[in-house]
Amino acid sequence: MNIALHDRLATAKKLARDAGALALSYQERLRRNDLVIIEKGVQDFVSEADQTTERLIRDELARQHPEDGFLGEETGSCLHGQGVWVVDPIDGTNNYLRQHRHWCVSIAYVVDGEPLLGVIYDPSNDELFSALIGQGAYLNDCRLHADHGNADRVRIVNLGYSAKTELQHYLRTIERLFEQGIDHRRHGSAALGLAHVAAGRFDGYMEAFINAWDIMAGVIIVREAGLWVELQTRPGGYAIRAGVPALAPILV
Ligand code: IPD
Ligand code: CA
Repeated sequence: MNIALHDRLATAKKLARDAGALALSYQERLRRNDLVIIEKGVQDFVSEADQTTERLIRDELARQHPEDGFLGEETGSCLHGQGVWVVDPIDGTNNYLRQHRHWCVSIAYVVDGEPLLGVIYDPSNDELFSALIGQGAYLNDCRLHADHGNADRVRIVNLGYSAKTELQHYLRTIERLFEQGIDHRRHGSAALGLAHVAAGRFDGYMEAFINAWDIMAGVIIVREAGLWVELQTRPGGYAIRAGVPALAPILV
């Protein structure tokens, strides 16, 4: 495969930081109640900040890598060429719009459905998570070495839920975790949830339906940290389970 992956990783890292800074700059207008916000569905919002940030990423990728395709949460897809950039300009939009700090920029480069590199930038904490296939995962400049743990050391899992899935399944997952003595959190950003799994801050992540742009960067970052990821295709997206292997029989 003759793809300049190192160049693309450098592009993605720089763009994720630029996009994070741009999104942060919109927070001033948010505080002044001067940001256009549209409700796309139940608990599903998009703001001018999401749209402008995605536009920045999309335009710059088209300029630097015109041969690549693009799929973004807010501006849709243009699929051509061997690879496609899969982008969420602000993952955790609800948090962002309520001025919580838990949101991020997520950029992946995907070939034949497999992410080859991923970058997740958390501007609130200036943390850049990244991975390139076969080259490991990093938090800023530090290599992430997953602690595989064992069943006794699984303590806390991050969960995702949206109105696109069955509430009963989500509640049953929480019940099963409690039965095993495992606690959970739901922080409202799948991308950052996965990045934190790679960094050992959670033992796992699970969501019954999720879009590609929410998870593709996180998938390769978790894999390259040496952990388990299982994706099952669903109409228009995926079900994802990830984390220490001991969670596989528990997260069903
Ligand atoms: C959402 C977040 C949330 C997940 C939802 C996603 P958005 O993305 O990742 O954690 O549970 O399924 O849609 O709307 O904040 O970009
Ligand atoms: Ca998202």
